[in-house]
Amino acid sequence: MRDAPSNLQIHADRLWGTILETAQFGGTPKGGVRRLTLSPEDKTVRDWFRAACEAAGCTVTVDALGNMFALRPGRDGSKLPVGFGSHLDTQPTGGKFDGVLGTLAALEVLRTLNDAGIETDAPLCVANWTNEEGSRFAPAMMGSAAYVGDFTVENILARTDAEGVTVAQALNSIGYAGAEAVGAQPFGAFVELHIEQGPILEAEGKTIGVVEHGQGIVWYDGRITGFESHAGSTPMPLRRDALAAFAEIVLAVERLARDLGPNAVGTVGEVTIVNASRNVIPGDVIFSAEFRSPEAETLKALETGLAAVLADIASRRPKVDIQLETIWRKEPTHFDAKVIGAVREAANALGYSNRPMVSGAGHDAFNLATKMPAAMIFVPCKDGLSHNELEDATKDDCVAGANVLLHAVLALAGVAKAA
Ligand code: GLV
Ligand code: MN
Ligand code: MN
Repeated sequence: MRDAPSNLQIHADRLWGTILETAQFGGTPKGGVRRLTLSPEDKTVRDWFRAACEAAGCTVTVDALGNMFALRPGRDGSKLPVGFGSHLDTQPTGGKFDGVLGTLAALEVLRTLNDAGIETDAPLCVANWTNEEGSRFAPAMMGSAAYVGDFTVENILARTDAEGVTVAQALNSIGYAGAEAVGAQPFGAFVELHIEQGPILEAEGKTIGVVEHGQGIVWYDGRITGFESHAGSTPMPLRRDALAAFAEIVLAVERLARDLGPNAVGTVGEVTIVNASRNVIPGDVIFSAEFRSPEAETLKALETGLAAVLADIASRRPKVDIQLETIWRKEPTHFDAKVIGAVREAANALGYSNRPMVSGAGHDAFNLATKMPAAMIFVPCKDGLSHNELEDATKDDCVAGANVLLHAVLALAGVAKAA
């Protein structure tokens, strides 16, 4: 085993090849990826990932929530492994890079170290976290949340998708209910590479985002109960229209986030009119909503503001019943100075332009940061677009991010530098 040259680079074509190869697992005609967590497509990419990690000499373990860990031993077995990686599940209309880049770049780091014959002091451990996206099962970042103890394993296993399938059933159906206890795989630190999913790096012509903070997030599940009746014959004052009340909530979420901006966003992303029909007044509406802000006070103000809006709508529309439950709440994340420093120093040493950043999207690294030193690396994506099949990033930027990941991990894990 040799020492690490400061100009060591990952294998650009090999990384790009793995991104294109795995994009076929759930690939869509528009060039995106639909690979919902714990689906048959997710199993295919997991099997591929496990085989690739084992071929790279790692021992792969799977925990009871399907989180996957590929361990590469270090010189000093008494040191905790440096963790890095991301997720391989996607949104229903996902792209080729969200989560995938961070996971496959982590694999590429292992392959690069193997090729160069480099051994680190601390062991290395690449993670693929279950259900980062939160689109099939809520909440998002579910596997890493349970890993750090925010939810019990039983609580997560009982969560259901829209068809009533539980996480436990879905894990069993693809053979990824692993034997390891959730949280048993220790890490000394965690680094996650990801596309930015926003427009800042591209607009400023910067290659690397050194992520110092992450937005706080609140997710809601809501239901409005009115009464179905004839659209032609029910006079307006007698109606119990659940959808009209819902429309007020949509606009209030938007208004609150605008009023409390610029560091606030609010979205209503899902709505179902139960038994919808064009000539029936909607009597049962199920929806989701979310707020995000990097400022704890702003996040709180958004929540308080929404509660006041709901009270107002309820007083003006007493014929409908409005229920809103907070199903997930995450305070803003402050990443660790040492890991942030390792990322910034790696970017500077490699000559990549960079800037500090706040993450708008949620990431598994947010959860890990509550239990260990953690930080993230961002690279630009085209037009800042993500959660869309047209999501795109250049090969050069992906390679730059992977090189920063390589050197940040080496700095954290410890490796003698070649003269
Ligand atoms: C995850 O992708 C999120 O930010 O919601
Ligand atoms: Mn992601
Ligand atoms: Mn995502």
